[in-house]
Amino acid sequence: MDSIWIKGGNPLKGEIPISGAKNAALTLMPCALLTEEKVTLANLPRLADVDTFSHLLNQLGVSTSVAGVKKGQIGRRMTLQANDIASTVAPYDMVRKMRASVLVLGPMLARMGEATVSLPGGCAIGDRPIDLHLKALECMGAEIELTAGYVKASAPKGRLAGGDFSFPVVSVGATENALMAAVLAKGKTQLFNAAREPEIVDLCEMLVAMGAEIGGIGSNVLTVEGQAELHGCEHTVGPDHIEVGSFMALAGVTGGELRITGTLPGDLRMIRLVFDQLGLFSELDGDDVLVPGEQQLIIKRDAGEYKSKIQDGPWPAFPADLTSIAVALATQCAGSVLIHEWMFENRLVFTDKLISMGADIVLCDPHRAIVTGPARLRGERLSSPDIRAGMSMLIAALSATGESVIQNVREIDRGYENIDVRLRNLGARIQRIAAEDQTPAMHT
Ligand code: UD1
Repeated sequence: MDSIWIKGGNPLKGEIPISGAKNAALTLMPCALLTEEKVTLANLPRLADVDTFSHLLNQLGVSTSVAGVKKGQIGRRMTLQANDIASTVAPYDMVRKMRASVLVLGPMLARMGEATVSLPGGCAIGDRPIDLHLKALECMGAEIELTAGYVKASAPKGRLAGGDFSFPVVSVGATENALMAAVLAKGKTQLFNAAREPEIVDLCEMLVAMGAEIGGIGSNVLTVEGQAELHGCEHTVGPDHIEVGSFMALAGVTGGELRITGTLPGDLRMIRLVFDQLGLFSELDGDDVLVPGEQQLIIKRDAGEYKSKIQDGPWPAFPADLTSIAVALATQCAGSVLIHEWMFENRLVFTDKLISMGADIVLCDPHRAIVTGPARLRGERLSSPDIRAGMSMLIAALSATGESVIQNVREIDRGYENIDVRLRNLGARIQRIAAEDQTPAMHT
């Protein structure tokens, strides 16, 4: 597997356009299963996870064609057509690579009346059940059987029927699967305590462009009037707010000055607020986020209290994916902060890698880390267990003294497009090392 070599210390400077959102792309692509007409997605990020999803759809008989890929450019345009579904089985070897593959379940069941999907794999961030995906589909009449690691779902008489479902826990994936099923179910579905992340709004907008009737878009109560069929559409994937947060942190730890372009400022309120709590100031200029250079990063204490705390939560709270990024940023901020990630029990376990670089982090339990800074980090040889941990290590490595090597860079490629080239263009000393060229020695 490829690695990335990094020499820290250079401030990042310049302008960086934001890619289409990974998590949106992975729920917009399976919408192609809902119609026999062509669906075109513009601004689709060039990511390993998008390629994996495309291969999975190909195996099911969905044709995909890509246009507009120019060297050095970000984003591409993909046309998908599911006019000849060859299989309703999503096999283990595809689904284990990426948890989001389970998102073919809802649309395939709704369109074909049956779907068999392997239980998912994905990031190493803990136990990730799909019970709510299944319960939401059951409330639309789906009959579900679990056999030998597979979910076998069928719709009585070939079509789901609308129903009401209240999510006991807010789940992005389960809301997506339920929505994609409900749009073709007979009658009305109501989803209570639904997720309302930007990718859910993006999904609703695409479904509406395909002919779906959805009320409450952007809220946590979604009402869907099922249609007999949907049609094709053209849709542009929205910008990735997680990538915006990652670049803001990169600017902050390197003392750099960045203009991050093409964002949706309305999606950035909580991210900017929380980073501001860590002492990282940013401002808006239209759709751009400006991070001024050479900031003194000083952690602010919570009002009237002696401590500072960051906690993630369902939208519009601070996104879980940015907790790993906040940890790396906090290592370079003066003061202490408690970072509480309650959704996934393994997400913060990677912090031992930052500790090996010199970070002052106490992992109180799998969900809570106390970070005290600023720490003088030194280069290290690291391996990335998941997408956001990989970015967190990259942020740490760019602020460290000396050289680092991050192995298993595929994990970073799953979520960040062309990251080495884009960071090099901003002044980072970073080089991709192809698997065959790797030598064990580092030059620290
Ligand atoms: C999605 C994102 C991921 C992000 C997460 C939370 C994609 C491809 N991934 O993951 O990057 O970190 O949202 O914003 O979009 N849960 C259950 N039962 C279920 C489903 C979820 O108990 O059936 C729990 C999970 O264990 C977790 C919480 O619900 O504690 C939220 O998970 P969920 O929103 O479903 O995350 P994903 O959709 O997997």
